[in-house]
Amino acid sequence: MQSRRRLSAQPTADDGARSALTTANSAGGNYRHEFEVQHQHLGAVLDSLAASLGTVAERPDDVGTRVEMLRLLRKLEHLLPEHFEYEEAGGYLAEALAVAPQLTRRAQRLRNEHSWFVTKLAALANRARDAGESPGSWKALAAGVRKFTYELRNHELKENSLVQDAFTYDTGGG
Ligand SMILES: [Fe+2]
Ligand SMILES: [Fe+2]
Repeated sequence: MQSRRRLSAQPTADDGARSALTTANSAGGNYRHEFEVQHQHLGAVLDSLAASLGTVAERPDDVGTRVEMLRLLRKLEHLLPEHFEYEEAGGYLAEALAVAPQLTRRAQRLRNEHSWFVTKLAALANRARDAGESPGSWKALAAGVRKFTYELRNHELKENSLVQDAFTYDTGGG
């Protein structure tokens, strides 16, 4: 990323176009901060879920960790739609795409993943609620949740990358 620099790195007062871009980047600073805070919060829940996953996979008959995993899945069921709503407010990643419309197609692919995550999470939470006392069911469920969290982290990383790219000025190597 060494060929890239922030738009606001060297603002030139007499360059109208650059001033406009710098203003956009300042707004992007607040946007990026809120975006990062939300991703950190979601990441912390996924970390806790990952910790419970390991225990459930090894000791699927441990009631305490099963309860904890179900609690975290429920928490995620509330948190994730709220997060997606935030990202989609006024158009998915609207502030980022306002300064970098060339990233629209890349953004659309990520936007399309949201409904899959909500549906998949609901299915996993329902399986957890219905798993009863079967260690085999919990072990299989832990594997499913592990795959889900992997996919979700991957989605979030791609969004971080897109937002970073949007608010970064590509000098084109020159
Ligand atoms: Fe997202
Ligand atoms: Fe996100």
